[in-house]
Amino acid sequence: MSNYDIKDINQAEGGRRRIEWAEREMPVLRSIRERFAKEKPLKGMRLSCCLHVTTETANLMRTLHEGGADIVLTASNPLSTQDDVAAALVNNYEIPVFAIKGEDKVTYFKHIRAALEHKPHMTQDDGADLVSSLFFIEMGRFEKLEPSLAEWAKTLKDEERKQMLKNVIGGTEETTTGVIRLKAMEKDGVLKFPVIAVNDALTKHMFDNRYGTGQSTIDGIVRATNVLLAGKTFVVAGYGWCGRGLASRARGMGAHVVVTEVDPMKALEAVMDGYQVMPMIDAAKVGDIFCTVTGDLNVIDGHDFEVMKDGALVANSGHFNVELNIPALEKMSVGKPNLVRPFVDQYTTKDGRKINVLGEGRLINLASAEGHPASVMDMSFANQALSAEYMAKNADKLEKKVYSVPTEIDNEIARLKLDAMGVKIDVLSDEQLHYLNSWEEGT
Ligand SMILES: NC(=O)c1ccc[n+]([C@@H]2O[C@H](COP(=O)([O-])OP(=O)(O)OC[C@H]3O[C@@H](n4cnc5c(N)ncnc54)[C@H](O)[C@@H]3O)[C@@H](O)[C@H]2O)c1
Repeated sequence: MSNYDIKDINQAEGGRRRIEWAEREMPVLRSIRERFAKEKPLKGMRLSCCLHVTTETANLMRTLHEGGADIVLTASNPLSTQDDVAAALVNNYEIPVFAIKGEDKVTYFKHIRAALEHKPHMTQDDGADLVSSLFFIEMGRFEKLEPSLAEWAKTLKDEERKQMLKNVIGGTEETTTGVIRLKAMEKDGVLKFPVIAVNDALTKHMFDNRYGTGQSTIDGIVRATNVLLAGKTFVVAGYGWCGRGLASRARGMGAHVVVTEVDPMKALEAVMDGYQVMPMIDAAKVGDIFCTVTGDLNVIDGHDFEVMKDGALVANSGHFNVELNIPALEKMSVGKPNLVRPFVDQYTTKDGRKINVLGEGRLINLASAEGHPASVMDMSFANQALSAEYMAKNADKLEKKVYSVPTEIDNEIARLKLDAMGVKIDVLSDEQLHYLNSWEEGT
């Protein structure tokens, strides 16, 4: 395999300009990059990164590269790659990229294979596809792999398969869904190296999942459809970090927001925040626009599609497209869906209703928009860069577990972000410190 596989190297100049534009909004990562350039904390480390190939990721790659890492980047979703960014990374920054927007499943896993052939010392995942492939290969569970990846894995000698895993000192994981998969691996005793759950850092999920997903999901839906949100009934499935952000942004645009949940505490919070809460089967009858953000399966199921209004718009911004039961929708439809606009597949049901699925049900903010704005990814990727440095220094002391980002790193990122925004805060006086740590003072 050549040392990159991208759509078109001639798109590099446009990609470079967009990467630099994003960098203006990423002061924390920039300050880390300047330090990494001097200290080279990742010198001699091979990193395989399976992340959305966007302008912000490009700035993370530049940071790791300056830190001395030898990197290969592949996509963590077949639809999220920005081809001009992939071209610029190869052409201008000499970082091998294996990612093409719209690649089929076989190509997606051919690219994961390139990341494995890099023989990484460290992994960076967004959804755990790279790590799970690595583990299935090592365990010889070829039936769990995409068939072409399985074919390749079967050609490896046992020793080669085991060595691929032995090389890895640790990894990092970007998103909620990946962390859930990794924690399940830890529970089943199959996690073979320590992983830092970047998603669990406060400076990640409180900002990226909430403000980033909130805004960029709306952006994706609007770019795909040009729909006016004011006056529409907008159904948000899941009131976690992403759902809270999405619901508040949809309300801000004038939509009437309905929330569906399975967790009573989150449902109650949504009610207290002023949203209407109901089961999906009822929401399905009244919604104009639907978006799932749960990390769960078949959240909008066949029976929900059965009762939707003619013209409903249905999207997902959770990690995998399994949140929408698209096979069920296919079964109840006549013929194939029509691509009525880029990223809008229109299904016609047997009773004549049109149901529009956006971005094939994949993360809509990355499929039809540009993902999160750079300033939130600044914090997420500052966590990635500092966690990689932490792993390089401390992997030998860690167990085969999923670890949170150390609090010092989280606090340092919050401090750097405030500095970059020119925001100053108060500092506890000695008297206040004493008061807050004592039980003796009362009424
Ligand atoms: N689009 C993006 O850029 C982006 C960014 C961050 C995270 N994500 C993904 O979004 C998903 C949600 O992430 P999060 O951080 O909000 O997670 P979270 O755990 O904070 O929230 C998920 C919520 O969904 C609810 N839920 C689960 N099953 C449900 C069902 N059947 N119906 C209704 N609600 C249900 C849960 O009770 C929970 O409150 C994950 O897949 C995550 O990987 C996407």
